[in-house]
Amino acid sequence: MTTIAELQKVVEIALNKENFVTEPEALYQPIEYVMSLGGKRIRPTMCLAGCYLFDDNFENALSAGLAVEVFHNFTLLHDDVMDNAEVRRNQPTVHIKWDENTAILSGDAMLIKAYQYLSKVDESVLKSVLDLFSQTAIEVCEGQQYDMEFESRTNVTVDEYLNMIRLKTAVLLAGSLKAGAIIGKANEKDATHLYEFGENIGLAFQLQDDFLDVYGDEKTFGKAIGGDIVANKKTFLLINALERASGSLMEELQEWVNIKSFNRDEKIEAVRNIYNQIGVDEIARKKMNDYFEKALTSLEKVNGKESMKEELREFAVKLIKRSR
Ligand code: IPE
Ligand code: IPE
Ligand code: MG
Ligand code: MG
Ligand code: MG
Repeated sequence: MTTIAELQKVVEIALNKENFVTEPEALYQPIEYVMSLGGKRIRPTMCLAGCYLFDDNFENALSAGLAVEVFHNFTLLHDDVMDNAEVRRNQPTVHIKWDENTAILSGDAMLIKAYQYLSKVDESVLKSVLDLFSQTAIEVCEGQQYDMEFESRTNVTVDEYLNMIRLKTAVLLAGSLKAGAIIGKANEKDATHLYEFGENIGLAFQLQDDFLDVYGDEKTFGKAIGGDIVANKKTFLLINALERASGSLMEELQEWVNIKSFNRDEKIEAVRNIYNQIGVDEIARKKMNDYFEKALTSLEKVNGKESMKEELREFAVKLIKRSR
């Protein structure tokens, strides 16, 4: 029996074997840098797990796993520019350590590298995996665009938000699992149910990311706390606060959202305080739980190895309880 912890190790070993540095170093050094900073390696691990559910030979999904991890890290390089984020995985982000041009071009190269890994997938499934990956990648861009647009809007609905995080985050988790399933020669039905599991876990995962951005511990989370508040990101917390606040609390919240010049820590503290008074953290927890339950229902329908399904259930619990 193979566990998720073992699959995670396989991913780590495979990544360690990769040498990302060649010439020109200014292009490749940042790739090596971000890839070696760690990270939870959730997506490639899910890719191997998706395969192993249907086929013992999970190594067949390794190149697709590397592809999704390099792609994910590419999105982080660009996302950190777009979000003005200075710290990731407890280290300076690429655009801070180098500059924005570097983050753009090294990121672009990573997207191409992802396709190079993908092309190593067995020919019998190459076209379906490639199509799935491209569809997923374009959806991530769509989600990122909505995320940015929502910063300057105050009437974003919960449904709009949920669609945005589905696109920017959930589809990559879902796509990673499904790519693995396709490589493991799962039938269409099982691959689709597994995708739905990933999508629901992914929604819960981004809700938790939003939560940790406000309530997390900086050292453990590895990112600066409060970035979403500073940028007026329409997170589940802010949308619910805007929908529920009234009277002077509403006025105060509106002021902080509209203010142009402010002290960063002061704004974070004030908005967090408003969140606490309204209890939006509890509302977020409930929503996360709903998606967790939905995810389990989808997983139930997957006809795959029972031992790996159990592992995935446990993994899902850890994901929504995570602090990093
Ligand atoms: C960060 O993803 C981006 C989001 C979708 C929230 P992870 O939390 O998986 O980041 P790493 O790879 O573990 O650093
Ligand atoms: C993650 O959104 C989406 C992508 C990276 C595509 P965030 O902007 O919330 O991710 P973090 O918090 O910076 O990791
Ligand atoms: Mg972002
Ligand atoms: Mg970000
Ligand atoms: Mg975030």
